[in-house]
Amino acid sequence: MSSFEQVNEYFSEVRKWCGQLLQALYKRGEDEFDKHDLADKVQALVNRIGANEAHYDLAFTYEVKAEVEDIQEEWEMLRQKQGEELERAYDDIRVGIGEHQLPPLPYPYHALEPYIAKEIMVLHHDVHHKSYVDGLNKAERKMQEARVQGNYELLKHWEREAAFHGSGHYLHTIFWNNMSRNGGGKPKGALLERIRRDFGSFGHFKQHFTEAANQVEGVGWALLVWSPRAHRLEILQTEKHQLFTQWDTIPLLVLDVWEHAYYLQYQTKRAEYVKNWWNIVNWRDVEDRYYQASQLKWKSY
Ligand SMILES: [Fe+2]
Repeated sequence: MSSFEQVNEYFSEVRKWCGQLLQALYKRGEDEFDKHDLADKVQALVNRIGANEAHYDLAFTYEVKAEVEDIQEEWEMLRQKQGEELERAYDDIRVGIGEHQLPPLPYPYHALEPYIAKEIMVLHHDVHHKSYVDGLNKAERKMQEARVQGNYELLKHWEREAAFHGSGHYLHTIFWNNMSRNGGGKPKGALLERIRRDFGSFGHFKQHFTEAANQVEGVGWALLVWSPRAHRLEILQTEKHQLFTQWDTIPLLVLDVWEHAYYLQYQTKRAEYVKNWWNIVNWRDVEDRYYQASQLKWKSY
C-alpha cells in the first residue's frame, strides 16, 4: 500500500470512528453541555477532513492525529463522569444490606374504617409488618456474614428466612398502598380493558379473586399479577408469603388473608372481610402499578 493510500485509509478510519462517537454521544440523551461541546468538536473534525480531502499532507495528518487524541481524552472523561453520576443516583435509591425500613402507612390507622378497624391496622403495620422488616434485615446480614467468613453451614436457614420475611415485607408494602379510604368501585382505562380481555368481565375477575382469597389454605394472600412473559393478567394464591405462586410475575393487587389481617374484627368470618375489602381497593394505585409493569416488553412464550 502506498503512503498516499495509507493516509487515505487513516482518514477514512477517523471518519468512521467520529460517526460512531457521534451516535454514542446522542444516544446518551439528556441535555448536557459537555456532551454537546464534544459533539461539536467531533463534527468540526469530520468537516475539516472532508474539506481537505484533496490536500492531505503530513502536517495535516499530525493535526488530525492530535485532535483525535484530544477527543479521545475528553470522551473518556465524559464517560467516567457519567458513570460516577449514575453510580451516585443508584446509591440514592439502593437499600443497603440489612437496612430495610418499615414504610409509613399512607393514611391514618383509622382511615379504612368501618371495613378494617384501627386496632387491626396498628398491630398489622407496627407489629407484624415490622417483624418482617426486622427478619429480612437479620437474614441479609447473616448471609453477608456467611460470605465474609466463607461459612455457609446455616445458609439454608437464612435463605428461607429471607424468602419468608422478604416476601412479607414487600407484599405488605404493596398491600397498604392498594387500599384507600376513597377506594372501591372499578378500575378505569387500560387496566379495566385488560381485565375484561383476560377474564371476560370485571365481574368474572372479582368473583375469581374473591374465591382465591377465601380458599387460601391456612395463611396467605390472593394476588392479581401481570405476567410480562405471557403479556396477560393472572390471579394467584400464595401460602404464607412465599409459597405456591408463579415466578417472573409482578403483583398489582394483593389481599392479605392471614388471620392477623381480620381476626380482631371479623373473627373466623374471612369471607365477610374479603367482601368488605372491595370497598377500599385503591384502583388508582393498581392502575399505576399495571402501567409500570406493562412497560416491560419481554419475548412471549
Ligand atoms: Fe399481614
